[in-house]
Amino acid sequence: MTKITAAITAVGGYVPQFVLTNQMLESMVDTNDEWITSRTGIKERRILKPEEGQGTSFLAIKAAQQLIEKGNVNPQEIDLVVVATATPDSMVASTAAFVASEIGATNAFAYDLLAACSSFLFGMSSVASQIESGRYKKVLLIGADKMSSILDYTDRTTCIIFGDGAGAVLFEPNEEGLGLQDEYLRADGSGRQFLGMEGGGSIMPATIESVKARKHYIFQDGKTVFKFAVSNMADVAEKIMTRNKLTDDDVSWLVPHQANKRIIDATAKRMGLDHSKVMMNIQRYGNTTSATLPLLLSDYEEQLKKGDKLVFAAFGGGFTWGSIYLKWAYN
Ligand code: UT7
Repeated sequence: MTKITAAITAVGGYVPQFVLTNQMLESMVDTNDEWITSRTGIKERRILKPEEGQGTSFLAIKAAQQLIEKGNVNPQEIDLVVVATATPDSMVASTAAFVASEIGATNAFAYDLLAACSSFLFGMSSVASQIESGRYKKVLLIGADKMSSILDYTDRTTCIIFGDGAGAVLFEPNEEGLGLQDEYLRADGSGRQFLGMEGGGSIMPATIESVKARKHYIFQDGKTVFKFAVSNMADVAEKIMTRNKLTDDDVSWLVPHQANKRIIDATAKRMGLDHSKVMMNIQRYGNTTSATLPLLLSDYEEQLKKGDKLVFAAFGGGFTWGSIYLKWAYN
């Protein structure tokens, strides 16, 4: 019997219209374009303005609709919708369920997946196994985050980094050996003290005091996270290459989480990859958390060729991190 692999067969992406530049941030917090550019590689990010009254689902729906249109997909044939996100529309009710209904995926079940900046990567693993098992045929995986909803625009250590956006991919069975080949995924819960959000969860539900103390915004010990991200992202990418006997020549593209250009450069260097093989859009979108990887695929789709060997790598809160090796399935 032919082995079934899980391949990406369509992609879509969406970023909101409003552009928040480094220059604009200079008038909001004590920062400057030179610092942000040299330390992170970010020039601007997109923001879904609060007065628009929309949540993460708005971004996810737009990305999914673009995929459906471009890929000529019948939404009623979609079996499962997974929304990878750290900023669901609200607690309890599934954002993915709302997205599925809005895009017409009326025959699908749907759930959210939360693993901070690794959500999309871990989602790839989850949905691929649904396809490989033969249980489902069309699975839509969306990475979407409205990071601006949990950013403190008086805190220069976090507000300059993140942006809003969404990307979507469709996974389908493949009998040519294309799609997901291997994965190496990790988590270390001792890292949660360095990156997260204290308020709003079950440990610290919202109170007047928690709001006054600004506990409902993301915090990050940047230096510590940077140190872990640099070594762990490079380690797992190298491990995936070694395990699959991939040389730098074999790898067509590195698809790295867009947290900091310096982390991306270090990972590419360890893999021995030239800059021309590294997908990058951090300069335009900043860190969109769960959306970075699918937004890269959306931006680079036209340059991808059937059989291209892609190495994904991500690192995020939790800590969570990992790498996936995938063969691209279409021109
Ligand atoms: O996606 C999830 C995973 N997240 C990450 O991977 C992020 C990892 N961390 C980073 O990318 C970096 O640590 C940051 C970009 C967050 C910070 O860069 P850094 O080179 O680690 O800077 P730092 O925190 O060591 O700060 C250096 C200096 C400090 O001043 P002093 O103490 O040297 O006088 C900061 O106060 O830069 C100062 N600083 C700023 N200056 C201008 C911190 N933030 C800013 C700012 N503008 N926005």
